[in-house]
Amino acid sequence: MADRISFEDWMQSVQTTMEETLSTLLPAATQTPERLHDAMRYAVLDGGKRVRPLLVFAAGVLFDAPHAAMARAGAAVEMIHAYSLVHDDMPCMDNDVLRRGKPTVHVQYDEATALLAGDALQSQAFTILSRQEIDPERTIQMLQILSEAAGSLGMCGGQAIDLASVGHNLSLEQLEQMHGLKTGALLEASVFLGCLCGRFPGTDEARALQAYTKAIGLAFQVVDDILDATADSETLGKTAGKDAADDKPTYVSILGLDQSRALAEKLRLDAHQALGLFDEKADRLRQLADLIVQRDK
Ligand code: IPE
Ligand code: IPE
Ligand code: MG
Ligand code: MG
Ligand code: MG
Repeated sequence: MADRISFEDWMQSVQTTMEETLSTLLPAATQTPERLHDAMRYAVLDGGKRVRPLLVFAAGVLFDAPHAAMARAGAAVEMIHAYSLVHDDMPCMDNDVLRRGKPTVHVQYDEATALLAGDALQSQAFTILSRQEIDPERTIQMLQILSEAAGSLGMCGGQAIDLASVGHNLSLEQLEQMHGLKTGALLEASVFLGCLCGRFPGTDEARALQAYTKAIGLAFQVVDDILDATADSETLGKTAGKDAADDKPTYVSILGLDQSRALAEKLRLDAHQALGLFDEKADRLRQLADLIVQRDK
């Protein structure tokens, strides 16, 4: 490895950087409107695995990206993710009361504040990204990537399919499409934001990274479905068993646990294979593929 520190120490250092960066880039809770700013900070700070920023940094390392640019891009994608969680938990969507080990935003504050906190986090993400101090051409491309990944052809589209699928039996193809959009799109964006913090990827590099992100994006949600069915709420920091209770089609409900686990492992190997082009500078991406599949929360 270029930096020679262990994966655990590297993750810790990115997570610490992200906590500081996110705190700096969010409006202070003392700034008017205080309740909204407090809710935004509550939703984003002090919680979560920070997998998307970790992907930004892992891809950034591969493309020799400057640290400040990666921190800013990581903050932008994490804010979009946090907004998606705030809205996902609202009564009109999954109606969840626990997130990241704390009451969900609409429970802690109120529904209107949760709606606005999500909206404002989304705007803040693009504000932050637009202020990247790098080549403007790459900044514009990053804005395009993140906005497409968050929109109706990405995360929001996947969420719409998810809600429309309650009580229905999806085909594997439909399930893959839903997971790819609701979860895969932001993970893919994270990897490409990381690259662009450094330079434009070449055609072969982009193709390889696309194959990597397709595998980890799907794997991430397959494992989320497995954990929903097998882990407890305390470990997860969110309500376990919710998918079955809500009659959501998931990999577990359609394939069963064993086949879902086998699929996640196959996707982990696919992710490794996709990175064959790269030397050890891609090890952080390899380690993150392992983490995404082998995590217990
Ligand atoms: C949960 O995402 C929602 C999905 C997209 C499956 P994470 O598992 O990354 O949640 P945090 O950020 O660690 O809380
Ligand atoms: C949500 O998927 C994905 C998002 C875009 C937020 P889930 O509804 O499965 O996420 P959890 O299990 O509540 O974290
Ligand atoms: Mg949901
Ligand atoms: Mg949910
Ligand atoms: Mg889930």
